[in-house]
Amino acid sequence: MTAPTIIPTSVSGRSAIDVARQCAREAGRRARARFRQPQEISVKGRGNLLSQTDLELETYLTQTLLEEFPDHKVLSEESASTTDTSGWVWVVDPLDGTRNFVSGIPFFCINVALCCDGEPVVGVTHDPNQDESFWAERGAGAWVNDQPARVSEAPSVQQSVVGIDLGYDDGRGTAILGLAHELFPGVQSIRIPGSAALGLAYAACGRYDLFVHHYLFPWDIAAGILLAREAGGTITDHLGGPVTIAGRTVIAGGAAAHADFLRWQHAHAGALDLPPE
Ligand code: IPD
Ligand code: CA
Ligand code: CA
Repeated sequence: MTAPTIIPTSVSGRSAIDVARQCAREAGRRARARFRQPQEISVKGRGNLLSQTDLELETYLTQTLLEEFPDHKVLSEESASTTDTSGWVWVVDPLDGTRNFVSGIPFFCINVALCCDGEPVVGVTHDPNQDESFWAERGAGAWVNDQPARVSEAPSVQQSVVGIDLGYDDGRGTAILGLAHELFPGVQSIRIPGSAALGLAYAACGRYDLFVHHYLFPWDIAAGILLAREAGGTITDHLGGPVTIAGRTVIAGGAAAHADFLRWQHAHAGALDLPPE
């Protein structure tokens, strides 16, 4: 089945993008209220934490989305029990940047996307600290609050601020640090934001000229795929092939910098050597 052009409206008669924007914003308000407050934290892995807030936001978002769209499925990080992305599925990261959140670093977001057979058609990345919502609807453009979002026009890697992030696989994290080492100083600068979703949103609005990550999950990337496309960008996997919500790797940015990055990778063969997960 290919994605139909009509995105369903909710039981209360609202558009999917309105519901997504409103609940991401409300979840962001709740995240801010819990930020730097004592709470239970558990450890999923080295540097990979789970706060009470992740779970509270997940409950709120899942309930709200299913109330509004009872026929849809929800694939959300902390309760991801299915890999079935057929049909209409809300792909949700209730809190992206939990390590930052727990450390008191105000750089985290709420990530909500509606996918049809794995293709994102609505996406919202909400940053409650800056009160910025990055949002897109398929065919209707990408926005930062009420301003259109466009990717960067940087002509080359050398002229780029490159965002990267490490992920939770030590081999992949080490590989991307190796890539950064190779890139530097042949770039404007390199950033590690600690929120992959905001990294992608920043690429979609041209703050990062490029964003590169080697260990993503559907909830990290679903909204960002649509944001980058609707902002006129190029988004692929690490080899320049099609990106999907199920793929682990991404290169996102403006067309010229993206193409130059692929050329650069081919000239630095080591940059293409990804350890298996
Ligand atoms: C993580 C963050 C981190 C990125 C990881 C993600 P989480 O998400 O976005 O910056 O490097 O790949 O899994 O655990 O904070 O939702
Ligand atoms: Ca998360
Ligand atoms: Ca995440």
